[in-house]
Amino acid sequence: MLHGAPVSVSHLLPPGTLISGVYAIDALIGTGGMGAVYRAHDRAREREVALKIIHPNLASDAEIRRRFAREARLMRSLVHPNVVSVYDFIQDERFLAIVMENVEGPTLAQEIRRWNGQMPYAHIRTIMSAMLHAIAEAHRNGIVHRDIKPDNVLLRMDRKEPVPKVVDFGVAKILEGTVYTVTGAMLGTCRYMAPEQVESPDLLSYPADVYSLGVTLFEMITGRCPFEHDSHFALMMAHVRDQAPSPASYRADVPRGLCELIAQAMSKRPDQRPRDCSEFFDKLHAALAHVDAQPTEAVDTPSTLRDADGGELVLVPGGFFGMGQERRKVYVDPYYIDRLPVTNRQFAKFLDVTGYRPSHNDFFGHFADARPPEQLMQHPAVHVSWYDAYAYAQWAGKSLPSEAQWEKAARGTDGRKYPWGKIAPDATRANYGLMRRGTVRVGSHPAGASPYGVQDMAGNVWEWCLDGDSADFYAHGPSHNPCNHVTGKERRVVRGGAFLYDAHSVRTFSRSSFEPAVRSQAIGFRCIRRV
Ligand SMILES: Nc1ncnc2c1ncn2[C@@H]1O[C@H](COP(=O)(O)OP(=O)(O)OP(=O)(O)O)[C@@H](O)[C@H]1O
Ligand SMILES: [Mg+2]
Repeated sequence: MLHGAPVSVSHLLPPGTLISGVYAIDALIGTGGMGAVYRAHDRAREREVALKIIHPNLASDAEIRRRFAREARLMRSLVHPNVVSVYDFIQDERFLAIVMENVEGPTLAQEIRRWNGQMPYAHIRTIMSAMLHAIAEAHRNGIVHRDIKPDNVLLRMDRKEPVPKVVDFGVAKILEGTVYTVTGAMLGTCRYMAPEQVESPDLLSYPADVYSLGVTLFEMITGRCPFEHDSHFALMMAHVRDQAPSPASYRADVPRGLCELIAQAMSKRPDQRPRDCSEFFDKLHAALAHVDAQPTEAVDTPSTLRDADGGELVLVPGGFFGMGQERRKVYVDPYYIDRLPVTNRQFAKFLDVTGYRPSHNDFFGHFADARPPEQLMQHPAVHVSWYDAYAYAQWAGKSLPSEAQWEKAARGTDGRKYPWGKIAPDATRANYGLMRRGTVRVGSHPAGASPYGVQDMAGNVWEWCLDGDSADFYAHGPSHNPCNHVTGKERRVVRGGAFLYDAHSVRTFSRSSFEPAVRSQAIGFRCIRRV
């Protein structure tokens, strides 16, 4: 929905208002660039409808009324299961309104926010395919949508699968070229706008929709738009002049074919984009051919997973374990955890692909020249602040472990003192107590593995956890999935000891903490993933 749109509260209609003698207003659904949308009851046909009532300022403009009549006829001609049906129009002296099918369910914009940049590819394919069917049908009928964006896709949650329905076909044309387009009415649209829509709206045709579909696909994959400036002008200029980033900069597992499809769909030149929606559809399906139809239906949870960032994850089953020296009873849900700490090689790839740079100058030790030396590639990534670790985890579609998750992965359920059991540490099980002058390759101490086969939990490097440091929370916090997730500058917990620290540091319940901006040669991290 738009902010700063030319709709003021004083224009909103109260429930019970009767429009055109048959439509009884029920409730406001939302407001947008052209007016407000209400749920209403159609007394003649005894059904729920949605009424888009054009803002009175616009409705009193003769040119707008003329265009409305013309576009309205076209909209009604479009009938498709993935298009919101337009039933009727109201054009009297007081109101200009579109009467349409009422779709109960979230918008695609809300659905994108819910997934926070990790929407499953099978879901993306389902929604995008339906949108392409809808737009293809419009194009066959000579209609250009002109305002494709996640706000204009409604998801009817029928059974398990959402049924996407595209709304507002051609509505943008009613305003185009009028002064209203620059008053805020089009702001929501600017993020999705093809370059030719900015430069020469008169030439605008089907390829402009293909461009907006490319931007929408980008956003479904990454949770953000390729261009995200605050002002109309900067956004428009970016579409005209700037090269769009690759979605792979924001998400680790984007199939190459999808990156290519988006780059092509967002070509500055209309004739270089996919020719039509069916070519777009074919390329989408080719790029996602390896994705299972129903990933969410999988009943088994495999005991290990291979990850997009090259790591291997181990399943830690849900259940109780004894946490801390006192072994207080704590329950955690099942999760996957990296078998090994994140390596310099993995971290270098993250820097490379995303262009991520830390926020202050105290730069990452051996990452100062962007690439660590070859002989350190399989060592744990160090000189990474908590923020850097957090950013990596997010990019990789994972998370930092909570302290409880870290500890359960290290000691299992029998309350052991070291990941491998009771035996005092030695050089075969862990790298600690300055027995070496620095880190060693990850996985160098298989004899020190935890009951789940997770390695390097003791020694080598401390590992950042999600939690802010609070001894009280650790000892007396909630007994179910405790996590003291903080967002400020509080110190963050590290676990597992390090090469620089003594044998006490490698006990499964030892803990320390540092300010989140600290970088050290003895602190690294690993990630977890939800089951
Ligand atoms: N047919 C419909 N059924 C149910 N909800 C709808 C329907 N049409 C629109 N809405 C909802 O009404 C709200 C306002 O829609 P509106 O189209 O005015 O704004 P917008 O899509 O945010 O911007 P724009 O004016 O650029 O289309 C949105 O939340 C939208 O999801
Ligand atoms: Mg809309």
